[in-house]
Amino acid sequence: MKRLIKNNVHWLGKIDWELRKFHGEEYSTHSGSSYNSYLIQEEKTVLIDTVWRPFADEFVANLESEIDLESIDYIIINHGENDHSGALSKLMEKIPNTPIYCTKNAVGSLMGQYHKSWNFNVVKTGDTLDIGNGKSLVFVEMRMLHWPDSMATYLTEDNILFSNDAFGQHYACEHLFNDLADQCKLSEEAMKYYANILNPFNKILKKKLEDILSLNLTIDIIATSHGVIWRENPIQIVEKYQAWCNDYQENQITVIYDTMWNGTKQVAEKIVEGIQLEDSDVTVKLFNISKSDDNDLATEVFKSKAIAVGSPTVSNSVLRSLVGFLHYMKELKFKNKKATAFGCYGWSGESPQVLMTMLEEAGFELVGDSFKVNWNMTKNVELEAIEFGKSFVKEL
Ligand code: FEO
Repeated sequence: MKRLIKNNVHWLGKIDWELRKFHGEEYSTHSGSSYNSYLIQEEKTVLIDTVWRPFADEFVANLESEIDLESIDYIIINHGENDHSGALSKLMEKIPNTPIYCTKNAVGSLMGQYHKSWNFNVVKTGDTLDIGNGKSLVFVEMRMLHWPDSMATYLTEDNILFSNDAFGQHYACEHLFNDLADQCKLSEEAMKYYANILNPFNKILKKKLEDILSLNLTIDIIATSHGVIWRENPIQIVEKYQAWCNDYQENQITVIYDTMWNGTKQVAEKIVEGIQLEDSDVTVKLFNISKSDDNDLATEVFKSKAIAVGSPTVSNSVLRSLVGFLHYMKELKFKNKKATAFGCYGWSGESPQVLMTMLEEAGFELVGDSFKVNWNMTKNVELEAIEFGKSFVKEL
């Protein structure tokens, strides 16, 4: 069923309530997601993006129940990733000659995935497409936001920016619009999406936001490809992105550990105690990494000004949960964040130094020395752990 966005623009996507993992197993989607496709019916009929491949049959059937597929004049593919182009093959079986407008990189992506030489029309930033009734589409390349092929499409007169992945959220919502959504969940999911998907491209995003704003486009609606559509004060999410792409941090310290026999856990708790004693204003959060979701944890790191990471020493190294997570931190390219490390050991005691090296490689600025505890803490060593937490805060 198509749902009205504005005038002759309708949503015709799929809300995926059951989705719990996205990008394979890489991204947790506790709130599901949606794949937003849009239909514009002016003198020309335009389809913007499709849906993920498992929903291809359903999507094409829905589209067919709304319009004669032969009436589609143009297909716009803002981004070739399968969650948006997954129904294209099924659709093109029925209308094989319909022109597809996309970036040059998207042609490579679509041909690489589907091995078809469809009627591609390459567009660049500033190119326009007249769709009649005094309206046109303006294309804006969004290279590396988040793929080399990404672009956005702006509909004049209706002032709708079809932003594809940018400004999206993995959030299945019965309401299509931001003003009707659960504001807390929307805010959390938008930030999680940014931290886990867009943060590596901060510099590019900063420049692109400046470019978009310098175009002085009136933007009444930002129609994303995932989650809810921003129609009430749509610039609020642009302003959030402007803050987030500037090496964002809040007054938060996150302590992350893994543990075998709870020794490192107890050290972590004492470090938290020290942080709280030294600074009663700072938000301190403590996570056992093996009982936490990596993407949620990455979002906590995104919000933090500093992190402390702990592991016991195992085979002269650290528990593998930390290795995977710190590799992920390196991928996300967080900047302007400080860090330290700690851990228990029985014999050789390398884990804090191994963690310090990994933290530095992941782009964190190391603060002071790491802290290690032989076997379990005595009362005196507990006081040392509290002092370590205090001195960490003082040095930030
Ligand atoms: Fe939502 Fe990059 O695909």
